[in-house]
Amino acid sequence: MKVAVIGAGYVGLVTASCLAELGHEVVCMDSDPRRVELLRAGVVPIYEPGLDALIERSTRAQRLFFTIRLADALEAAEVLFIAVGTPPREDGSADLGHVLEVARQVGATLKRPLVVVNKSTVPVGTAERVQAALDAGLAARGLGGLPVAVISNPEFLKEGAAIDDFMHPDRIVIGLPAGEAGAQARTAMTQLYASLNRHHERTVWMDLRSAELTKYAANAMLATRISFMNEMANLADLVGADVDAIRRGIGSDSRIGPSFLYAGTGYGGSCFPKDTRALMQTAQQHGSQMQLVEATERVNQAQRQVLARRVMQHFGADLRGRRFALWGLAFKPQTDDMREAPSRHLIRQLILRGAEVVAHDPVALETARAALADDLADIPQGLARLQLVGDAMAALDGADALIVVTEWKQFHNPDFALIRESLRRPLIIDGRNLYDPQQLQALGLAYQGIGRRNDLAGERVVSSAAQQALAEAA
Ligand SMILES: NC(=O)c1ccc[n+]([C@@H]2O[C@H](COP(=O)([O-])OP(=O)(O)OC[C@H]3O[C@@H](n4cnc5c(N)ncnc54)[C@H](O)[C@@H]3O)[C@@H](O)[C@H]2O)c1
Repeated sequence: MKVAVIGAGYVGLVTASCLAELGHEVVCMDSDPRRVELLRAGVVPIYEPGLDALIERSTRAQRLFFTIRLADALEAAEVLFIAVGTPPREDGSADLGHVLEVARQVGATLKRPLVVVNKSTVPVGTAERVQAALDAGLAARGLGGLPVAVISNPEFLKEGAAIDDFMHPDRIVIGLPAGEAGAQARTAMTQLYASLNRHHERTVWMDLRSAELTKYAANAMLATRISFMNEMANLADLVGADVDAIRRGIGSDSRIGPSFLYAGTGYGGSCFPKDTRALMQTAQQHGSQMQLVEATERVNQAQRQVLARRVMQHFGADLRGRRFALWGLAFKPQTDDMREAPSRHLIRQLILRGAEVVAHDPVALETARAALADDLADIPQGLARLQLVGDAMAALDGADALIVVTEWKQFHNPDFALIRESLRRPLIIDGRNLYDPQQLQALGLAYQGIGRRNDLAGERVVSSAAQQALAEAA
């Protein structure tokens, strides 16, 4: 089929390249000329494992094209995906500016029937708004009768495993409008996704509003599991239990399952924080409240401070003259995405308290440099105390502690003897519970994880001072 994908970000590029891999002819349009220029030159502007090979193969086979002109993308398209950003507004609600702009432009340009698929994460009722914006544009050009159906097909991919998620989805959620428009769109989508449903039918058909809300429900549920485990970890610290044992103990229960039960530094990234807040906003707009989601968000805000609190537990609130090595900047492994990454919050806290920070990430150095320059713009002398380095071991030289923030595979089995030699103090603060506390202690390294029988006395002695310092720094 002939497909247009609007937006060449994480979701748009994965959608476009995977559909091209499945044999469809795809034109991917983005309004950012630099991004399109890079893609045309064979440079993929984001890090996503396997994506560059997929794009290279499909562009060479002339099944995938990049453009900045919407008219090029619309020329032959039977199906058009909207995959532009929906960033949070000040009040937490989703900013639909880009989505509605695409709808207006399509309405002003389209000349043939089309199924418009909303892949961006959007609040309930957006498909109807997109349809109205499109219809208005068509009517203004005397094309009111053109069959154009707007449907919802939320994206559930995980950055870092996005291609596999697209090619082998647990489910494909599709929300359709009622009547003939919905029936025709169903036929088109059945054909488009046929190869993904060959083994068994994965599509869950539903109405538009349910599909839109399903995306938020999924993210809120996953975020809640993480906050639940973080809260459990904090209690484990207090009572002298190990949250990793608890994770294994409950994750083996088939009713619970093992995924998303890892305690850590709080969730980040481009989806969970913004989508939970947008869901709360939707509830408020309808005179209601998502109490569980609100608690999830509150727990997460507190958990973001856990590593800074651990540092102050050891070194006090004044960190001048201290140097810390950080491993991992991206919000999770296998991505260069720095949106709402926990490392950003930690680095700001450390720099504000006077510390030097030497940080390493296997792929996110460039995106981190831009994000951190932004975060520290109000403390230029602080920015000078931050170094980003390409070598994990080099980051350790003379540092007072190693802080592990992102659980990249490269960090799973480091040379602990070398770490001990390189550090000024033999301390690892493990924000992802990667290491075995007993093994490290036997090797002469002090260890502090999350919810793993940490030193109770130390925590209590500094916690109120540290809390106050954190509140001032925030
Ligand atoms: N990143 C994820 O893991 C993920 C997963 C599921 C759903 N989503 C949702 O998918 C949507 C896209 O997310 P993303 O991470 O791919 O965003 P992104 O910021 O990486 O990419 C968005 C792209 O859209 C382009 N764009 C903006 N306005 C445009 C316009 N009018 N015309 C053409 N291009 C335009 C931007 O230049 C940018 O390249 C969001 O709603 C997000 O919540 C993201």
